[in-house]
Amino acid sequence: MQSKFQQFKTDFEAQLHTVADRLKLEELRTQFLGRKGKLAELMKEMGLLAQDQRQVLGAVANEVKTAVEAAFAQKETTVRAQEDAAAAQREWIDVTEPGSWPRAGHLHPVSTAIAEISDIFSRIGFSRVRAPEVDWDYYAFESLNMPKDHPARDDWETFFVKQAAGSRQQAAGTEDERIHHELQAASRPLPASPDMGRLVLTPHTSNSQVREMEKGKLPIRMININRTYRRQSDVTHVPMFHQFEGLLIDKDVTIGNLKGTLDYFAKAYFGPSRVTRLRPHHFRFTEPSFEIDISCGLCEGKDSAMCRLCKAGWLELGGAGMVHPNVLKAGGVDPKVHGGFAFGWGVERTLSMKSGMNLDDIRLLYKNDLRFVRQF
Ligand code: DAH
Repeated sequence: MQSKFQQFKTDFEAQLHTVADRLKLEELRTQFLGRKGKLAELMKEMGLLAQDQRQVLGAVANEVKTAVEAAFAQKETTVRAQEDAAAAQREWIDVTEPGSWPRAGHLHPVSTAIAEISDIFSRIGFSRVRAPEVDWDYYAFESLNMPKDHPARDDWETFFVKQAAGSRQQAAGTEDERIHHELQAASRPLPASPDMGRLVLTPHTSNSQVREMEKGKLPIRMININRTYRRQSDVTHVPMFHQFEGLLIDKDVTIGNLKGTLDYFAKAYFGPSRVTRLRPHHFRFTEPSFEIDISCGLCEGKDSAMCRLCKAGWLELGGAGMVHPNVLKAGGVDPKVHGGFAFGWGVERTLSMKSGMNLDDIRLLYKNDLRFVRQF
């Protein structure tokens, strides 16, 4: 009987030696140490012996049992550690490895510039308004102190929209009729007189001036940003571009207010070191009128003779002036009580003058070339 216990121990140890995973280990436990296992059988057998024999054997049995259980426990620890190490090897991740990013798009630089410009003006109380981009000649020219056939109109190389000659009664369902309804919805009912003239693709955003005054609410502090159209295409011009138009109408408005507003914008958009300068000019809708220049961000006026960007330290941005009394009258505002200033700039031009843009051909903005757009 004693040798059976010894044999049991030897068999167990031999088998234990070959085990390499938890599954096999569990099988081994059932086979040798389980309720119906080999050890249990031996114990049962031992129970049949006479008491004195049992006492002698009991000690041996205990010894074997303890030794076997200890060996088993030790093997279990080793197997578990080996398995865990293997799993760690297999499922290893490098948490410091850079992640893979979803490819997100972004706004076109012109859209970003429009949002930025609106934001800058909203901070000083200019609300964004919208005037039609296809509008009557009256709003684009005539109400701005440019009578029909006035030569000043030639400065805006305007696209005209074809419509039934001389009439504003459009045939039902035509494109003209649709535009006509859109325009009426955008403004108060069209006055019977003056004559609204032909439809034009707005060559500037100044059509918003009289339209805003016609709403009849003073004071006015508005910014209109919209698409504009001119028959032109070269490195600094595209046929479809954007302008922003500012208009302020109130009592006691001075050129100082205009200059302050422009300087504020120049610093907010281009950077704190930039300043503006007003140069006398002529527009029919402002008196006096100015062209606005901004100090050059490249040479900062220091080496302007050599600068490839500016003229004598300055870059030309847009037009401005004090609103002409005839324009105020056209908008139903009394020039003896109220006055104001206005300015109008191109968005693409403004964008191209931002430091770091280095945009030497404005047409690139509309080439739909992703390699270009992704740079911003
Ligand atoms: N509308 C002018 C243009 O397109 C720019 C302009 C000049 C706008 C003077 C104004 C202004 O509001 O007062 O060239």
